[in-house]
Amino acid sequence: MKSLIKKLVETVGPSGYESKIREVIRGEVEGFADEIQVDAMGNLIIKKGEKKEGGLRVMLSAHIDEIGVMVTHVDKNGFARFTTIGGVRPHTCYGSRVRFLNGSAGVIGGERLENANHVHTIESMYIDLGASNPEDCPVKVGDVAAFDRPFEDLGNRVISKAMDDRVCSAILIETLKLVKNSPHELFFVFSTQEEVGLRGATTAAYAIDPDLGIAADVTMSGDTPRGIKMDISLGKGPAIKVKDGGMLADPRLVDAMVQCAVKHKIPYQMEVLLGGTTDAKAMQISRAGMPAGCVSVPTRYVHTPSEMVDINDVNNAVKLLSALISEPIKLV
Ligand code: CO
Ligand code: ZN
Repeated sequence: MKSLIKKLVETVGPSGYESKIREVIRGEVEGFADEIQVDAMGNLIIKKGEKKEGGLRVMLSAHIDEIGVMVTHVDKNGFARFTTIGGVRPHTCYGSRVRFLNGSAGVIGGERLENANHVHTIESMYIDLGASNPEDCPVKVGDVAAFDRPFEDLGNRVISKAMDDRVCSAILIETLKLVKNSPHELFFVFSTQEEVGLRGATTAAYAIDPDLGIAADVTMSGDTPRGIKMDISLGKGPAIKVKDGGMLADPRLVDAMVQCAVKHKIPYQMEVLLGGTTDAKAMQISRAGMPAGCVSVPTRYVHTPSEMVDINDVNNAVKLLSALISEPIKLV
């Protein structure tokens, strides 16, 4: 699992530019799919199995895009100004390395701060690619980059950029490999452009028109010094979403997930997240609506270049999802 996560997180793929990561994932899933499709939005859709007695048409979704930056201007001294792709916070930027799709690397610097305790605005920062003029600069207006940090293995805990949501891409890959006799017609969607507004999942849900939607994404945790007030800790199991900033999970599906975890003795936590949302929101309100929910991986330092997860939560999320979709899902 760790080597799969490393492979996925270290691939560059900001929103809208997911072709590299999609090909990496396609390579992992090819032998396990009944049908493979890439739609106009770049979603990788893997179909597996047919609907049998008691089965549903189920869409599972994990997004393969990551937050990043896009060049808006290269000045006469070769410094590249940038805008953000997705929820990049200014205080995570200064001193960070970025890697462009063409392989070029740079460091984010900033104009002198009047007060060293203040944080740079995005507008007052730039990417230094080692160039002295625009001609030297290996990137141009419109080029995109992701944060660049290697995968770090601390034992139970692992750190990297883009754990959001490559860790759940790994979870869906492993779930796909594990599920053998499902009564459901399963669609594993590796979705695009989640970080800029759930765009890939929106069109995928419309096209697939499932009976039920389940997202897999990261959530935050409340277990760090003077952190956010949230009853989620790393290592206590995958989180079953009840609510986030964009949706109320279908309570019947929440119950089905809880009962499944209890039955299979899988540790779990209940998630109430105040901000943010996932592909589950897009699925829930697609067409005439559908029951939808989300299995989340507790994550520290979300949307920084060093997101941390507990590998036991990751493995237990695979167990929970594969158990859930291997049996009839009764929504009562
Ligand atoms: Co995110
Ligand atoms: Zn995410």
